[in-house]
Amino acid sequence: MSKDIVLSGIRPTGNLHLGNYYGALSKFVKLQNDYDCRFFIADLHALTTSTDPDALHQSVRGILAQYLAAGIDPEKAAIFVQSDVPELSELYLLMNMHVGIGELMRTASFKDKARKALGIKTPENDSEEAFEQQIIGASTNKRVNAGLLTYPTLMAVDILAQKARWVPVGKDQLQHLELTRRFARRFNSFYGVEEFIEPEDFQFTDKPVKVPGLDGSGKMGKSEGNCVYLIDEPKVLRKKVMRAVTDEGPQEPNSPVSEPIANLFSLLELTSTPEIVQQFKDAYADCSIRYGDLKKQLAEDILKVTDPIRERTAEILKDEAYMRKVLARGADIARAQASETLREVRHIMGIRKI
Ligand code: TRP
Repeated sequence: MSKDIVLSGIRPTGNLHLGNYYGALSKFVKLQNDYDCRFFIADLHALTTSTDPDALHQSVRGILAQYLAAGIDPEKAAIFVQSDVPELSELYLLMNMHVGIGELMRTASFKDKARKALGIKTPENDSEEAFEQQIIGASTNKRVNAGLLTYPTLMAVDILAQKARWVPVGKDQLQHLELTRRFARRFNSFYGVEEFIEPEDFQFTDKPVKVPGLDGSGKMGKSEGNCVYLIDEPKVLRKKVMRAVTDEGPQEPNSPVSEPIANLFSLLELTSTPEIVQQFKDAYADCSIRYGDLKKQLAEDILKVTDPIRERTAEILKDEAYMRKVLARGADIARAQASETLREVRHIMGIRKI
């Protein structure tokens, strides 16, 4: 029996942080043993929001190296770059014929990013009309590119081209996955075929991890002062952790824990031993805790995770031949599948040789 295909993509818009590691990467490392895993770097998707060609290229290299350094095994999982699979671009064109501009415009991530591109705040009245007015009637010289609008089409094609069964994505991507399923169903029923399989959100068996940021609220993301990168130098990483937001400290025994402190405890739980976590929780409960000590401990425990990854990343980045080999193998696997899908789709849609 062949294994189910698991597909996941990441936009190359910078380096990976601890949230990416615990939320995705460390789980991929386990998945690769049990599934036919394909992990790709969505450089075409990154073009919808990034404009600096050199930064994009560096980010693609960086993410590849960090994936490998974190334990993705290119002999087990296919790692590829989206643009190395040109079949996807043609499928994207073909699929767009079955996608409505209305449903794309109603996508939450599009609304968000479009407003950001135009520098518009979400108004009180977040109705469809208000949004359309802003996008179509915007009298600024900024524009929302059409690639951003059709982002979900490309993502659907990434998934459907590989005939992926499982797609591990974060909450923010569930709407895109739902659209993918809808496009697959629509295509199949329009032509009366069973071309595409409807992919599903991959549910990890362990409970979802929360990786909070260092700025006191919310999850770790790329914003300033909030995240530690896997390739942060120890000095930089320690400084970031020491600057993490805290509060004035517990004033009486067994006080409730405020969000910034709860976040530090969450990070410690991810990276440290249960004994050390308990030690600091006890110290919090009896008011003897010193946040400086907590942060020092946290920084050292994070470094135990990130240091080996940072070092291996640097080595891999020096080995161009190795990186090229990994991507060539990945592209071969991805292209074999995508070109088969493309051939079938062309035929189904009537693009046939005379
Ligand atoms: N949109 C995803 C993100 O921003 C990245 C992505 C592109 C993706 N294509 C995909 C994820 C296909 C899973 C499958 O995180």
